[in-house]
Order: sequence, then C-alpha cells, then structure tokens
Amino acid sequence: MVEQQYGTTMAKTFPPPSINVWRHRHILDVNDFTIDEFTLIFDITDAMAEILTRDVKKVPTLRGRTIVNMFYEASTRTRSSFELAAKNLSADTINIDASKSSVVKGESLINNLLTLQALGAEIIVMRHSMAGAPYLAARQVNISIVNAGDGAHAHPSQALLDLYTMQKHLGDMKDKKVVIIGDILHSRVARSNIWALSTIGARITLCGPPTLMPPGIADFISFNNLTSVNVELNLNKAVRDADVLMPLRLQKERQQSGLLPTIREYVKLYQLNSSRVSMAKDNVMVMHPGPINEDIEISSEVAHGVQSVIEEQVTNGIALRMAIFYLIAGGRTNYGA
Ligand code: CP
Repeated sequence: MVEQQYGTTMAKTFPPPSINVWRHRHILDVNDFTIDEFTLIFDITDAMAEILTRDVKKVPTLRGRTIVNMFYEASTRTRSSFELAAKNLSADTINIDASKSSVVKGESLINNLLTLQALGAEIIVMRHSMAGAPYLAARQVNISIVNAGDGAHAHPSQALLDLYTMQKHLGDMKDKKVVIIGDILHSRVARSNIWALSTIGARITLCGPPTLMPPGIADFISFNNLTSVNVELNLNKAVRDADVLMPLRLQKERQQSGLLPTIREYVKLYQLNSSRVSMAKDNVMVMHPGPINEDIEISSEVAHGVQSVIEEQVTNGIALRMAIFYLIAGGRTNYGA
C-alpha cells in the first residue's frame, strides 16, 4: 500500500528495510538518536524530496489523520514547513496560534492539550518558550509530540534538516569541522546540533563572546564525553579550515541587559563576513537557521553569496518534516520506545 503511493520506481526500496531501527513515538530532541536512525530518516527524506519534484506534490499516506500545529511563540519557517509537510502527506491540519486560543482566557497547557486530544489530534507539533514543555506534553497526553523548539533547550527538526543539508554537500560528516557562531547561550539550534553532529562524528567548534557562552559549557562537554566539541572565543581562529560556518541569530528578545556592550562591537568581533569566510576551506558551506538579522551576525554579502545554503535549508525542511511525520505516524506504529 505504502509502496504503491510512492510509485513503481520507489517500490523496491521504500520503505527501507532498516525501518525497524526506528524507536521514537515523539521527537523531543536528537540526543538519543542513533547513527542508524539518522541514516533512516535521511533515506526517507530523500524519498519525500522526490515527491516534491512532482507536479502533484501530494501522497495519501496520512489521509484521515489529524495533525495540530500549536505555536506559543512566533515562527515563519518551522510552522509553515510543518504545515506543508502535513498537507503533502494528506493529513488534516489545524493551526493554533496561542495568542488567539483559550490560553488567553487562562486555560493551562495541559488542559489545552487534553482538549486537542479529545478533538482527535494524533500528532501535536509544539513550539513553546519554556524549555521542557514538549516533554511535559508527551507525558500528559496519548498523542505523538514533535518539539518545534522549546525555549533555549532543543530544536530537533532544525538540527535534522541542518545535518541532512550538510551531508548532501559534504557526504560523510565524520571529522568535518562545523563552527557554530554567536549566541550559543540562548540557542536551542546549537544544542540540538551539538548532539546530532557529535553522534555522527563531526568536529564542532563553538565560538562567541564569553557572555553568550553557556556557563559550565566545559563541564557539560566533559560530563557528556563530547570529545569532538571545543570552544574558541576568537572567530578569526575558529573559522580556519572550517567545512561549515553557522552563525546564529543574535536573540535580542532573549538578551538580558549587560550581556553585550554594544551591537557594533559584536558586529566587529563576531559577524560572519567575506573576509572571515575566505579563511575557511574553499568549499565551505554557510548555513543559518533563521530568522536572520542581516548585517548583524552575518553580512548581506555572505548571506546571499555563492557559499550560502540558507534557502536550501528551508526547502529541505519540508521533506525532512514529511519524513518525521511518516516515521511517527505512517511508517510504523509498534514503537520500541
Ligand atoms: N529556524 C526557525 O526556527 O525559524 P522560525 O522561528 O521562523 O520557525
């Protein structure tokens, strides 16, 4: 049945025999993903990307299933691409903007979730300003929860699409050097990328002002035995021989007063500009999870230059999120965990 949906050319290979390695009912972070699970989700993303090349970008895999996008924080790309992914798989989708929901009348998160469960939701994609909110949700309702970003904690679908995009350009990421730059302290993208990249054997350099490095980062690295992660505060040194440069948005809305003397100084010391890109490898990839503060953490020239894959990241996010839905709702239902 599933093979028929993907056409005869896919019939022999889809779903991949390795589908049985998948253990997740929820996607809360990527810290517990195995290499085999990364490989599986990227194989399925390839199949989903093929669907997106067709005139009719829709398959009936999740017909009759209900997916709710529940966003308690602003989002453009994550929300839109989860919605497109659900629609491409023929799911019924409901978008809930927390500012227009019963939350504003005082309804608790848990009662909000129980209401959506009673309405027939089978997957809830959830963004919340509080770290851990999706974990609480996963314990309270009998529905799959996909974390679309929780506070400064995790953004698993972003890390997955980032890694997928890197592998498309660079192949095996083992020993490749990825430099994550800027506001590491507030970045859920950085945290999820550290887990994903460490698992597949990439080398990670975290670079930013000391005030935007998480306190205790050295203890975190040694406690988790993340031997491939290091911290370099000087950006001119950090970019040398890099395969991937990933500046992060300077999160003005999360800044506590006093973390940065001035934006001008930040730009001078930490902006990814052409001169710094030229110190990396010739074929370096420039990535950014978005949204971008153009000419603050990244110069316009670099953001739109030939080495930038920023728009490709966004495009890959649709197929990747289709793969997430396929695996947690359509691929198999007898989860091992
Ligand atoms: N990368 C990311 O989470 O972007 P949005 O806030 O636009 O969803």
